[in-house]
Amino acid sequence: MLPHRNLCMLWLLLLLSVSGSAFKLNLFKRTPGLQDGDVRLFGSGRDSEGRVEVYHNGKWGTVCDDGWDMAEAQVVCRQLEFPGAKSVVTGKDYGQAPGPIWLDDLDCKGTENYLSSCSFKAWGLTDCSHKEDVGVVCETYGMNTTVDDTVHELDHSISMSDELGQIFDSRKGCDFHILAQSATGNKNEDGTLEMVETDICAHRLILSQFPLFNASDDSPSITVSMSHSCQPHFTSLIRYIYTRKIDVTFTSAQCLHWMASKFGMKQLMEDTGRLFSRILPEDASFQTQLSLYEYAEETGDLVLQENCIQYLAWNYENLTASPVWTTLPVQLLGAILSRSDLVVKDEYFLLQTVENWIEENSNSTSLEAQLDLLNRVRFPMIPVENLYDLEINSTLYSTFTNVYREKTLRAFQFISLPLRKLQSNPKFTLQGDDYKPRIYTSDAWSIGLSPSNQVQTRYKSSDRRNRYGYEYDYRYRPTPSPYGQLAGSFTTSFHYSLMLKGQNMNWQANIFTNRHDCSNWGIRCESFPVARFRNNYSPPSNIVFNNRLVIVCENKYVFQVQDFKEDLAYISKSNETQTTYPCPDGQYSYRFVVRPLLIN
Ligand SMILES: *[C@@H]1O[C@H](CO)[C@@H](O)[C@H](O)[C@H]1NC(C)=O
Ligand SMILES: *[C@@H]1O[C@H](CO)[C@@H](O)[C@H](O)[C@H]1NC(C)=O
Ligand SMILES: *[C@@H]1O[C@H](CO)[C@@H](O)[C@H](O)[C@H]1NC(C)=O
Ligand SMILES: *[C@@H]1O[C@H](CO)[C@@H](O)[C@H](O)[C@H]1NC(C)=O
Ligand SMILES: *[C@@H]1O[C@H](CO)[C@@H](O)[C@H](O)[C@H]1NC(C)=O
Ligand SMILES: *[C@@H]1O[C@H](CO)[C@@H](O)[C@H](O)[C@H]1NC(C)=O
Repeated sequence: MLPHRNLCMLWLLLLLSVSGSAFKLNLFKRTPGLQDGDVRLFGSGRDSEGRVEVYHNGKWGTVCDDGWDMAEAQVVCRQLEFPGAKSVVTGKDYGQAPGPIWLDDLDCKGTENYLSSCSFKAWGLTDCSHKEDVGVVCETYGMNTTVDDTVHELDHSISMSDELGQIFDSRKGCDFHILAQSATGNKNEDGTLEMVETDICAHRLILSQFPLFNASDDSPSITVSMSHSCQPHFTSLIRYIYTRKIDVTFTSAQCLHWMASKFGMKQLMEDTGRLFSRILPEDASFQTQLSLYEYAEETGDLVLQENCIQYLAWNYENLTASPVWTTLPVQLLGAILSRSDLVVKDEYFLLQTVENWIEENSNSTSLEAQLDLLNRVRFPMIPVENLYDLEINSTLYSTFTNVYREKTLRAFQFISLPLRKLQSNPKFTLQGDDYKPRIYTSDAWSIGLSPSNQVQTRYKSSDRRNRYGYEYDYRYRPTPSPYGQLAGSFTTSFHYSLMLKGQNMNWQANIFTNRHDCSNWGIRCESFPVARFRNNYSPPSNIVFNNRLVIVCENKYVFQVQDFKEDLAYISKSNETQTTYPCPDGQYSYRFVVRPLLIN
């Protein structure tokens, strides 16, 4: 599993979320053991209205209407935690009441906390029939009070959290034993394994929130086996069930995540799993990333799985150069290849890496699975000159000749035909991923800015051709930049299509780090740093730009990918989102990526 990292003592306080507090309140209401004198409203289908029933001597019974008025109704409604009574209901049929008539000739002042504190004849002493049972309609919270009530709930649940923690710590009234057991690794004299045990006494009612503890069964205890290193954390896991709070270190997170997955504690599992995501960049050999992914799959942590796949897709080129590349499981490779946020030089590079993987794994991978991988390569996005060379240069062309022929034909059609011509063919659909770019970082479609190459401008020279028909000539021309901001500009075509090859546009890329930078350009920025990426041309109406900002940490790994909205992309502080990875402040470099999309 994960390598041990002493220095990496991250912590995370899992505070109550709104759903967590709702859970607390339900616990409150489900307090077991009815008490003598409890009341309820029955027979209307609503909590706030119905026949008044009182619990006494193990039975629910009704109340006779003699002497019943608003004072008594107020007491009932307040006892039920409604703000007050709206009206008294007599003679209304809330259905047959089978039980006794408990109270008659009631006389409340209206200030009592319990109906049974008012004066009455005596329990069950009455000359009434069930026809005279009383009902009430209680006031419910209006708009204003609901808002207040919500805040109240949250306060309650936080204080409740501490109280429940005390209940757990005191073991008072506990009725369920959990025996945590692990082998120390030593042997006893008789040759058996030495075991250590922790006996935790908990409360069935609270544990029953997580059915996998089997606390609702008749058995008074369960025994749980675990690794020796996890046992010290087991008590905090059980305490978390009471308080919904837990301190997590990076070390304990590994145990807590595993235990949370074992007991179906999804929220705890996912939140501790997020902590793991932060170590993804640490291992340049990609072994950790791979084992973390496998572990996430095993424990069913979809959030962690997604975080791992995203990291691998963002750092695809490094992954393909790493020792684990050819050992990547075929399903994981398939999942990576189906993503549009895969960051890669260009689609030809991607095809070559896939061919390399297939060659290395051809003995153990079915033809069908190989074909499935090739189908995830977006041939229409392959630069045109590479397409032309595929027949000679592709290592798999002879094995999959027909597949390659068909795919290159469609790619050539896409690049060379006008959109309306393509659309007249029912087989062509823009919905398919084949026609969507990934995040291509080749210089044809992107520009990099980093503090070391302050200002750069690339000029297109029209007499040399690149893979899309143009060759760029890179000349870095430092130009004076006010306030030390990062800036650059470059030229691209409107689209990959050769039909649009004559039309070029110039892009201006900036990173603003303060308010002054922004106002200097006449724009308002909400936070810093912020990236701005714009062109001064209107593209044809069937093209939209889905540009991305790729942020690289210390020139080592991609740790954020941001969308542009109205030419701006805000860069998150690494401490502000749970899914990005740590990066020391100011160690960012940026790549602005142009992504033209054809739309119908
Ligand atoms: C909320 O309270 C304010 C003042 O207390 C009152 O003016 C307003 O009408 C109330 N709104 C509702 C929906 O009851
Ligand atoms: C809960 O009960 C099931 C079925 O009897 C059993 O497989 C499982 O191991 C039990 N869980 C614990 C934690 O004992
Ligand atoms: C595939 O299997 C053949 C024969 O079993 C072996 O000679 C060859 O080296 C294997 N190829 C790879 C890439 O493992
Ligand atoms: C294909 O191979 C030829 C000769 O081996 C080489 O000159 C050419 O650059 C290659 N093309 C690509 C796209 O790699
Ligand atoms: C990824 O590759 C780049 C370029 O080869 C290298 O500088 C960087 O250190 C690599 N990142 C990691 C995490 O190894
Ligand atoms: C993140 O760090 C910055 C300083 O680097 C600090 O101002 C900000 O409050 C921190 N944000 C959070 C959510 O901790």
